[in-house]
Amino acid sequence: MIHMRMVDLLEKKRDGKSLSKEEICFTIEGYVQGTIPDYQMAAWAMAVFFRGMSLEETTELTLAMAQSGNQLDLSSLGGRFVDKHSTGGVGDKTTLLVGPMVAACGVPVAKMSGRGLGHTGGTIDKLSSVPGFRVELTQEEFLAQVKKIGLSVIAQTGNLVPADKKLYALRDVTATVNSIPLIASSVMSKKIAAGAQGIVLDVKYGSGAFMKTVDEARILAKTMVDIGKALGRQTIAVLSNMNQPLGRAVGNSLEILEVADALQGKGSPDLVEVSLELGAWMLVAGEIVSKVETGKERLRQSLASGAAWNKFLAFLTEQGGDAQAVVDRRLRIASWSLPILAQETGYVQLFDAQKIGILAMVLGAGRVTKDSSIDLGTGVILVKKAGEWVEAGEPILQLYGSNQEMLTEGLKLAQNLVAVGREAPKLPPLIEEVIL
Ligand code: URA
Repeated sequence: MIHMRMVDLLEKKRDGKSLSKEEICFTIEGYVQGTIPDYQMAAWAMAVFFRGMSLEETTELTLAMAQSGNQLDLSSLGGRFVDKHSTGGVGDKTTLLVGPMVAACGVPVAKMSGRGLGHTGGTIDKLSSVPGFRVELTQEEFLAQVKKIGLSVIAQTGNLVPADKKLYALRDVTATVNSIPLIASSVMSKKIAAGAQGIVLDVKYGSGAFMKTVDEARILAKTMVDIGKALGRQTIAVLSNMNQPLGRAVGNSLEILEVADALQGKGSPDLVEVSLELGAWMLVAGEIVSKVETGKERLRQSLASGAAWNKFLAFLTEQGGDAQAVVDRRLRIASWSLPILAQETGYVQLFDAQKIGILAMVLGAGRVTKDSSIDLGTGVILVKKAGEWVEAGEPILQLYGSNQEMLTEGLKLAQNLVAVGREAPKLPPLIEEVIL
């Protein structure tokens, strides 16, 4: 390879020029091997953030990241596997509903998930709140589990997309998360490396998402669908609204308990609606239904029959988790807790999802630096959601903090967050569009 210097590539991207395939590979390989330090990679991420990347550059970046470690070939297992990924939201626990529902309908789900990023939560952190649950499996264990029970969700282990593992953590603490090429390559590299033939993407927009407007989200969705197609995978993107948190729980253990309720037929309607839409497209991509409506019907049946709930428990157990602790609601929840009470009677107005995400972080559920630990038992319960009626003095939010200082800090934020009005707020549709 021609001799390259990272500083020259930084200058090139800083000045808005395109990087070649070789330059992108040099950067990703160097970062993974440790010859390019965090400070140069942070500068690179910031240059990409400001200058963007063409579709060709983003596709090369995706491929370089996917090839930075091992890649799975699920075709060796036979059958058609599907995967799903969200671009990140607040209270977005859809994977944990959709995975068991889809697997219960006979389409195997092999999924690689992330940890929390910025103000958004991550499936891997949520699953870590189940005692004993192993988020890292070897490749053989992952494949064997998908074959056995049709469902596995793992973190990026050392040898699967190590480039994203490092870059994701770096972006989280360098204000370089919400960049279309960085999100698109992060999501798609994991999907390509995990090997599924069908990919369903949940592209969020709104205050709690990285893309604030539906137009930006559409560009991100089209970029990812184009990358998927260019790399030979069927890719479907659903644009969904993230102006308020999905469901009622925000925070890791709290969300697992909400998933348990939803899988037993007691789910918040918004959470169920988005999950049915995504799951139905996964059944379409898995080629067991041809119409999305038929898919939704099958998924509803999987909930009503208990098949999805049983699949979830089997999945927890198979990955070493204490499923009975979830059944008995014995997950650790922070004991520093306080309600936020309504000051007047009326309709609860729309919560700002991003602010709720930040509130959950302040209470202990999010990382401040890339090595910080989080408290899985902290977060927020939306006792009332936007549009619901509340009487003065009733709780709207319930906060769970890691310690008294964090709870006091959270309390200050939370007080400015809730509003009650005479008119019910107008809620936008949850599903905006599907891009095939
Ligand atoms: N989800 C990911 O996997 N990566 C991102 O960059 C954002 C959301």
